[in-house]
Amino acid sequence: MPPIRWNVEARIRGAALAALCLVPLLAAGCAPAEEPEATREAAAVVDDPHSFSRPGEVRVTHLALDLTVDFDARTLSGRASLTVDNPAGASELVLDTRGLEIAAVALGDGAAAIFTLGDEVEGQPFLGRPLTVEIAPGTEVVHVDYTTSPGAAALQWLDPAQTAGGERPFLFTQSQAILARTWVPCQDTPGVRMTYEATVHVPEGLMAVMSAENPTADQAGGVYRFEMPQPVPSYLLALAVGEIGFESLGRVSGVYAEPPTLPAAAWELADTPQMIDAAERLYGPYQWGRYDVLFLPPSFPFGGMENPRLTFATPTILAGDRSLVALIAHELAHSWSGNVVTNANWNDFWLNEGFTTYFEGRIMEAIYGEEYAEMLAALGLEQLRDTVEEIGADSPDTRLHLDLAGRDPDAGMTDVAYEKGRFFLRTLEQAVGRERWDAFLRGYFDRFAFRSITSAEFLDHLRAELLSPEEAERVGVERWVYEPGLPDNLAAPESARFAAVDAERQAWLEGRPATDLATADWTTHEWLRFLRGLPDDLPQARLAELDRAFDLTASGNSEIQAEWFGHAVAAGYRPAYTALEEFLLRVGRRKFLVPLYGALAATPEGKEWALEVYERARPGYHAVSRGTVDDLLGWGEETMARSTA
Ligand code: BES
Ligand code: ZN
Repeated sequence: MPPIRWNVEARIRGAALAALCLVPLLAAGCAPAEEPEATREAAAVVDDPHSFSRPGEVRVTHLALDLTVDFDARTLSGRASLTVDNPAGASELVLDTRGLEIAAVALGDGAAAIFTLGDEVEGQPFLGRPLTVEIAPGTEVVHVDYTTSPGAAALQWLDPAQTAGGERPFLFTQSQAILARTWVPCQDTPGVRMTYEATVHVPEGLMAVMSAENPTADQAGGVYRFEMPQPVPSYLLALAVGEIGFESLGRVSGVYAEPPTLPAAAWELADTPQMIDAAERLYGPYQWGRYDVLFLPPSFPFGGMENPRLTFATPTILAGDRSLVALIAHELAHSWSGNVVTNANWNDFWLNEGFTTYFEGRIMEAIYGEEYAEMLAALGLEQLRDTVEEIGADSPDTRLHLDLAGRDPDAGMTDVAYEKGRFFLRTLEQAVGRERWDAFLRGYFDRFAFRSITSAEFLDHLRAELLSPEEAERVGVERWVYEPGLPDNLAAPESARFAAVDAERQAWLEGRPATDLATADWTTHEWLRFLRGLPDDLPQARLAELDRAFDLTASGNSEIQAEWFGHAVAAGYRPAYTALEEFLLRVGRRKFLVPLYGALAATPEGKEWALEVYERARPGYHAVSRGTVDDLLGWGEETMARSTA
């Protein structure tokens, strides 16, 4: 591993400097570019509308957890000990909490501390409540004894029936964006990084893993020790507990999964070591030691989550042909963009996701070739255009730099950050050429390593290190970042393979039989292109013809299935409904649920059917997916209306 750049001394000096920068007039004098190398790590304190904490005054630098996992009570309970840096001798530490029951707070020397749990902010229950602890100027450690609530949004507790093994329960966390506070009292903002260690007690025979150094086998007595020596923001805190096995993939990587899933998972991810090599060749050494992937049960609400050292992933990418592994390239890329250089708050989410989507594309290109990677980029652009059309090209939510204050950040996070971000960076690459661009990007990851930054800081750096004023003007960097809609210098990817797909689709629409289409060498991506380009109003008979020719209802590929079911619902093509129902009951990945329930809700009969399925599926979904689908179907209001009808 490369030498650690964020040594303790630098961090302490850095925090003191950051505190000074709170005075706006002094801030210019604290500009990072003028700091000596050793103090660069100090992030200026950027306001975070989604955190009660005041890291400009007191900053948490280390977290020690001692937690017991109780599957019967569905709680985590124990102690969080927070090491703080308090350069100016402030008298309060403010932590974010949501739904935590605080039993006691003590200071480092063991003395009980005075604390208060503030009120929720009206209209913003997602922020939880501030825990304010009275501290002394010399306080170094604050201990919080607490228990999580059974409904904690970050935690999903699965019954054995929801696992592949079927015999033991499973627990996993999802902390991004602001859910860490539902299981750990912390400064829950990406502007604060801390190292962490944890002791986790689990029932005998279950394995615990974290976003940290991990075991590869069960520990006797169910006691697990973890260490994360690199500082990470709270949204990267992660824990999973269950019947979990491990298989190595290469020198620094491997797969964790439930034992029945493990062989397929290891097969699907065989290219992971190559992805790591490709990523390092592009933008410098991997900083986190190991890179492992944990496959969760199918209720995991996301495709993947870039928990450091241990990506969490949905098993819906196990297609059996390695065609959906761009998701691994994506989460791996976050090991640079996001985990090393982090958005200072969620308004600049695109700095995490846009850079990562760009980097993902470069990894895919390095391994599978340009033609293949351009198909993926083209699919991304199609989705971006759909999203922009849906939310409106003049909606502020189509800007890269967002304004999420007062809203649940989860609601403002769309494809825009990912795809408009990617296409902005592609536009920059095209403007200056790949060689200059790659050198710049590599320098960017070094320059801001282990820091949290804003759009403005990125643009300053871009102007200082890459673009002449004329180039910046020509690209329109301000417009890209701060204005809504899609700039017209967005260069669409060209794909001859997709042009061929479009021609086959057109031929079919004009009457060529499905069995005569030239689909033999199509990958998943060509199928997605084909399906997405079909008109919405196809009659059932035409869907039946496609289904007979290509067996789409029975496809084992989750992406193809989800796309196909969308058409089936639009046409009321009943032969697909049993498979659709099975899919909705098994899979909790929000990206699939939203369009499917959305399509069903478009007609009264569809909605009736959707509500009936949702009632049974809902208990198996994660809080994140439930929240979104509840809103979409008017769950609550609807159920009340139904029960009184
Ligand atoms: N960090 C995200 C997941 C996320 C974003 C969780 C916002 C909570 C709030 C992760 O890296 C991601 O982008 N996952 C994508 C897959 C990717 C290939 C686009 C997903 O889950 O669909
Ligand atoms: Zn991502």
